[in-house]
Amino acid sequence: MNTSLVSKIPVIAIDGPTASGKGTVAQRVALALGFHYLDSGALYRLVGLVSFQKGIKTSDEAQLIPLAKELDVIFQEDRIILAGEDASDAIRTEAMGLRASEVAIHPGVREALLTRQHNFRSAPGLVADGRDMGSVVFPDAKTKVYLTASVEARAERRYKQLIAKGISANMEVLLQDLRERDARDSGRSHSPLQAVSGSHYLDTTNLTVDQAVRQVLDWYQDSH
Ligand code: DC
Repeated sequence: MNTSLVSKIPVIAIDGPTASGKGTVAQRVALALGFHYLDSGALYRLVGLVSFQKGIKTSDEAQLIPLAKELDVIFQEDRIILAGEDASDAIRTEAMGLRASEVAIHPGVREALLTRQHNFRSAPGLVADGRDMGSVVFPDAKTKVYLTASVEARAERRYKQLIAKGISANMEVLLQDLRERDARDSGRSHSPLQAVSGSHYLDTTNLTVDQAVRQVLDWYQDSH
């Protein structure tokens, strides 16, 4: 499809910190509108996972770039297939979240993932979640949302998720991890997490998922 037609396809960009619930909200919004969904964090997590499997350090930008360019990944419904194997659970661990945030500081890695993210933009529309969806990847998004929650609320949500999966968790450690990840994602010099001008600020600390979804859908309707 030519560039001018692609630019007419609406995008809803949802950015925010780790464990803010933006993934859940973005998926529900996509479902409600029949739109495609891009979980951009999964791409950074995949680079974290593959580099781990190959013994490449997260500081080694030169080796990470080809790996990011050549990721052999297929997004199938809610599963992520890496080189023919289901990697959906392997990338969701705290360790891979941490590696993702480390590989994501390199501009060359971010650049290598750009076209892949743009390719998700197809009719009738796209809901994209991440850190730089509204600022860098889809600056022409129709609706931009900065979705957050207090660090305590995010740690508590993450704690409940882990316990529900039968994984032991410690609140203090989770809080510390989230603070470190927030600092790295917001403090890096390339495409840091930030609320861009024109974005709607949504604090979900005291909201249910339904309320958050409703609010994003209302903002999207208002943008017409
Ligand atoms: O959204 P997530 O927790 O799955 O993201 C994991 C890490 O990937 C996050 O700590 C920073 C990085 N990331 C990024 O730099 N830019 C994005 N658009 C999405 C994620």
